[in-house]
Amino acid sequence: MGVQSCHNFGDFRALAKRRLPGPIFHYIDGAADDEITYQRNTEAYNSCDLVPNVLAGVADVDMGVTVMGQKLDMPVYCAPTALQRLFHHDGERAVAAAAQKHGTMFGVSSLGTVSVEDLAAMALGPKMFQFYFHKDRGLNDALLERAKAAKFDVMALTVDTITGGNRERDLRTGFTSPPRLTLDSLMSFAMHPMWAINYFTHEKFDLPHLSGHVSAGTNLATSVGDYFSTMLDQQMNWKDAEDLCAKWDGQFALKGVMSVADAKRAVDIGCTGIMVSNHGGRQLDGSRAPFDQLAEIVDAVGSEIDVICEGGIQRGTHVLKALSLGAKACSGGRLYLYALAAAGQAGVERALGNLRTEIERDMKLMGVTHLDQLSRENLRFRQH
Ligand code: LAC
Repeated sequence: MGVQSCHNFGDFRALAKRRLPGPIFHYIDGAADDEITYQRNTEAYNSCDLVPNVLAGVADVDMGVTVMGQKLDMPVYCAPTALQRLFHHDGERAVAAAAQKHGTMFGVSSLGTVSVEDLAAMALGPKMFQFYFHKDRGLNDALLERAKAAKFDVMALTVDTITGGNRERDLRTGFTSPPRLTLDSLMSFAMHPMWAINYFTHEKFDLPHLSGHVSAGTNLATSVGDYFSTMLDQQMNWKDAEDLCAKWDGQFALKGVMSVADAKRAVDIGCTGIMVSNHGGRQLDGSRAPFDQLAEIVDAVGSEIDVICEGGIQRGTHVLKALSLGAKACSGGRLYLYALAAAGQAGVERALGNLRTEIERDMKLMGVTHLDQLSRENLRFRQH
């Protein structure tokens, strides 16, 4: 099966599973504890039904949105995710190029594997930098300065990784970054020779935003959970977020806000956006799904700040449901990561293209030509 036969999220996931060594696939695919929240993130969309209108003259559909000052040609963007060159040797370069082709934004992680400078040189479209607040203040300053100098458009401070989530699949597989050469991992590389040849023959694995500051994660095999727990500052608080927002002095989002109280404080400290997210179910299992929590957050702050619904998106209809509730856009990681692992840039282009095709078709079937015509009138929630 090639990328041309990938018609949906599940197809890309299946192809990624075949192409990747087990520990790497399970790092992407896994989540915290019993993975209940991870599953609920997608199921939440299915507890709510769309009510279409007809006879609306829908030949010309425009799915553009403006979010945190960025004009996007489609209402979905690639959330920042870590370690992308482990999944495909082109990593962030492939995602940046694919996002640019579709006129949408992509995010680069503090734990990214291609530098902000290199990405800025190749990608002219909207770019988000994801910030982890480290104990090392010198590193924090350097991250901010580099993202600013590279003219990234949006800064997103992750606020839901104050300690590592309990990712039992990673504990079981022994996943580390970079991959540790154990007997098991060597077996798994041998069974995925194409991945192994590409990994070992391309540019050496590196975390360019951390090199020079941190040995963990660059040349010392470490798990992501350990990295969060040991390197990030657990004392991070609202004052720190406010200072960072002021220093950035531009479009600034908190990534991982789930409560109305926090959403209001994000407005108070000067944020221009929030990403309602539980980190893809990878941190606090049992926490609510972003879609379930969206309405109360939009009601509280939707007129003051851009609310983005992140997590669980697998279909165009999921996006339309989130926008009907008042989200300005949606974002996701796995929605393009399996595709990246399956086929690099061509994979991500196809995954975003599939979503775009679905959104266009679904808008027509809903009887709307612009996304601002969607509203809660179009939704009904099932009684439990
Ligand atoms: C993760 C981090 C790195 O969820 O975002 O693995």
